[in-house]
Amino acid sequence: MDRLRQRTGKRFGTADDGLLVIEQPGAMLEASRRWRRDGKTIGLVPTMGALHAGHLSLVELARRENEVVVVSIFVNPIQFGPGEDFARYPRDPGRDARLLHEAEVDAIYEPSAGVMYPPDAGTRVHVGDVAEPLEGKARPGHFEGVATVVMKLFAAVEPDRAYFGQKDAQQVAVVKRLTRDLDLGVEIRVGPIVREPDGLALSSRNVYLDPAERKAAASLSAGLRGAADAYAAGERDPNELRRVLSAPMNSEPLVRLEYAEVVDPATFQKPGTLAVLAARVGKTRLIDNHDLRLPFLG
Ligand code: PAJ
Repeated sequence: MDRLRQRTGKRFGTADDGLLVIEQPGAMLEASRRWRRDGKTIGLVPTMGALHAGHLSLVELARRENEVVVVSIFVNPIQFGPGEDFARYPRDPGRDARLLHEAEVDAIYEPSAGVMYPPDAGTRVHVGDVAEPLEGKARPGHFEGVATVVMKLFAAVEPDRAYFGQKDAQQVAVVKRLTRDLDLGVEIRVGPIVREPDGLALSSRNVYLDPAERKAAASLSAGLRGAADAYAAGERDPNELRRVLSAPMNSEPLVRLEYAEVVDPATFQKPGTLAVLAARVGKTRLIDNHDLRLPFLG
């Protein structure tokens, strides 16, 4: 193990309960195959760091279901469009490592952008229909970037299971389709949305909000709550559900709604029962969703 450690990266913490930090795909694959040979199952939680309780809930789920847990931290440049927040995306590797150490993760896979995308790496994974509407339309190239990096993470880690948050519902649908279409053999597990007490979904981007914007951001979940209540009361007219969903955001001057739709959770086509929305709160773009068949508990 010492030889492996030296070649795969640094240790964080003490020798016995330390956390392996791996920076190269070859070293990651070698560590994973060693665990696999020892008969261990591997759970992967892909993240872009700036960890919060939403990420950590996925880590806990992975911890319960696998003998080994790997968390990847990589702010993936190719899933950000021009003019998006790649350069100022929050980064705090020291804090992330501490949190993952406490969460008893076995390894952090933290490749650099140069390692992931050498200058001549042009291969991209294009998923098709499910990646086209809503987020796909609002952020051209975004899901191609997500699918490409997820494919690379799966190739380096060879996990049995991979963990994604329902917070990014269309990403879940895209990753499930990718995994099925390319026979990747990874079980995709989905964790529920973790919310603040006022209903705002946790997001690494919430740190961009000033106090007034933070207050106004509660209108996103208020819309979802309203739509879930209307659905529970028997409302099925998509236009009426959309109206109820949008109302709290439309009456909030700091919020500009980009889309609010009720779609099928697997295909992202209409009609369906998944209420999805994107809105700008000041300059910050936030997304949220809720399956209207379930009570809104946030
Ligand atoms: P990131 O935004 O860091 O999110 C990592 C994972 O945490 C995603 O699966 C996301 O859905 C989940 N997550 C975020 N907020 C959550 C919340 N409030 N409750 C529950 N889960 C939450 O999503 C990405 O990174 C990237 O696109 C990635 C998949 C890593 C590919 O680059």
